[in-house]
Amino acid sequence: MQRQTTRQRERLGSCVLVCTNDRDSEYACCGDVGAEETLAAVKSWLRERGAFWSPVGVTTTGCLGLCSEDGAAIAIQPRDEWYADVTPEDVPELLEREFGPNADSIDQRAVDADGSDSLGATHPDD
Ligand code: FES
Repeated sequence: MQRQTTRQRERLGSCVLVCTNDRDSEYACCGDVGAEETLAAVKSWLRERGAFWSPVGVTTTGCLGLCSEDGAAIAIQPRDEWYADVTPEDVPELLEREFGPNADSIDQRAVDADGSDSLGATHPDD
């Protein structure tokens, strides 16, 4: 096992998690309401601004507990921002709100050489 916290903090300012959970159930799930299209819209928006995967990561995830018949759920970490009912059409407004129109408002939490971050936490194992 290798702890990679420092490496990822240096590379990523944020990570967008898009729920693509699909389940065979009577209950709504993101997989049934266009989550893959929403995911594609997130990636495209970031790619067009040169921000896809560095500094903004994108990944799919299972259920975030925001299931709806009106769109997919998205979480943005480490900002602790949560959205429900997200459609592909909502993605530009959502990402612009979070990262600015050019995706250049990315919080980079600096990690010092001694392993401490801007919150004062120390990670000697990194
Ligand atoms: S299935 Fe996506 S939040 Fe529950």
